[in-house]
Amino acid sequence: MDKIIDENRQGEVLMMDSDIAEASSKKVYIESYGCQMNFSDSEIVASILSGVGYETTRNIEEANAIFLNTCSIRDKAEKTVRQRISTLRKHKSRNGELVIGVLGCMAERMKHQLLEEEKLVDIVVGPDAYRDLPNLLSEAEDGRKAVNVLLSKEETYGDITPVRLDSNGVSAFISIMRGCDNMCTFCVVPFTRGRERSRNPESILDEARMLLNKGYKEVTLLGQNVDSYLWHGGGLKKEFSKLSEEEKKQSVNFAQLLGMVAEVSPKLRVRFSTSHPKDMTDDVLKVMASYDNICKYIHLPFQSGNSEVLERMNRGYSREWYLDRIRAINQIIPECGISADVIAGFCGETDAQHNDTLSLMEEVRFSFAYMFKYSERPKTLAQRRFEDDIPESVKQKRLAEIIELQMKHSKFRSEQFLHKTCEVLVEGNSKKDDSFLSGRNSQNTTVVFPKEHYKPGEYVQVFIEKCTATTLIGKAVKQD
Ligand code: 5AD
Ligand code: SF4
Repeated sequence: MDKIIDENRQGEVLMMDSDIAEASSKKVYIESYGCQMNFSDSEIVASILSGVGYETTRNIEEANAIFLNTCSIRDKAEKTVRQRISTLRKHKSRNGELVIGVLGCMAERMKHQLLEEEKLVDIVVGPDAYRDLPNLLSEAEDGRKAVNVLLSKEETYGDITPVRLDSNGVSAFISIMRGCDNMCTFCVVPFTRGRERSRNPESILDEARMLLNKGYKEVTLLGQNVDSYLWHGGGLKKEFSKLSEEEKKQSVNFAQLLGMVAEVSPKLRVRFSTSHPKDMTDDVLKVMASYDNICKYIHLPFQSGNSEVLERMNRGYSREWYLDRIRAINQIIPECGISADVIAGFCGETDAQHNDTLSLMEEVRFSFAYMFKYSERPKTLAQRRFEDDIPESVKQKRLAEIIELQMKHSKFRSEQFLHKTCEVLVEGNSKKDDSFLSGRNSQNTTVVFPKEHYKPGEYVQVFIEKCTATTLIGKAVKQD
């Protein structure tokens, strides 16, 4: 009983012993889609549900409740989830008591369709309402439709210890902030995840220490825009200049937080995602350069290589500004791996503007990129202001050109590691061959090498002998 109350410190869920006996036999199956933040949120959901006796299962057949943690970023992501819901409803015809719920961004965007119009699911819960899940589950079990999509100005789930799902026991996510205030015109996230708020640094450090004690060797600090992390005692994001003297005194920005997490232990690698070109400071780069255990890798989406398109996207920077940030990275952290996100065929994009995207890629030569066709999202600023006027065939052609160029650059970047030795944190067996181990080097490139006596969680020096665009292949270097 103590444990259950303790894990729900907000006191929102109080159970009687008899309820616990009944609930403890229950199982929940959670499937996550989309960004790393969603995968991290599912671990918070698992923790909240474990507090009321739900064990997570990987076997959908034995689940009493199934949750899909969903993504709305592109139309295709939503279609995939809708398809999955119809498949899951077949389980319901076998087990009438099965509860099916939608969590995350689609819950926020499509509550009415999912619950009322199409009656596809029993529970709909938005990203800031997971603490309410135990109540919503009991409502659903009583046959009532349950919904909570309230967005919060405060919620960071800072006090909840995530239950690690599908974990390799080596690497874990730590969410450091929620929401986004940026309002990029193409993006649905500010509508589905609400306003930006930062999590108390002490709770972040506690989580990192706890992971280290459990044997984890790497943490990735997560946020939609980690560079604008600013703790000032709680609540919505504020500009540093608008803080009171008291708030300034206790404030912690991202550069400071990164240093604090790196100090937890030199044996704990630190990564972070996602950076924003308009907010990424030299201070962050200097902190990265000064700690060996902060990985030399930055994911810095550029979206377009043309300043006019960037303006229409409301990204808050120009092509020149982006390239200046790249110069700063290369100067302060010469060996840094850089990856990006890019969108092909945004509203009004001309051939010349698309060529600017290609030329920016040529200038930077990213090690990796997530590449997308523009997908118009309902209610976004772009949908209200601009026409989605680039024909599908043109979007496709532009995307293909971007992908082809990126393949060339990924290969180029991989080749830079040939005949060099990298430190690799082993994460598990190689997917292709059980006699090989797989891990990542500091620059986030996958490295595989023969297993010998090495094990997941070990740091191994690997001499790189061969490579593909995405993988380095080598041999462990014996160390005395
Ligand atoms: N269409 C295509 N790509 C998008 N992204 C965000 N919104 C859209 C959209 N409407 C991409 C951006 C962002 C990444 C997470 O998804 O590149 O950085
Ligand atoms: Fe979306 Fe822009 Fe916020 Fe990223 S920074 S989540 S693209 S609004």
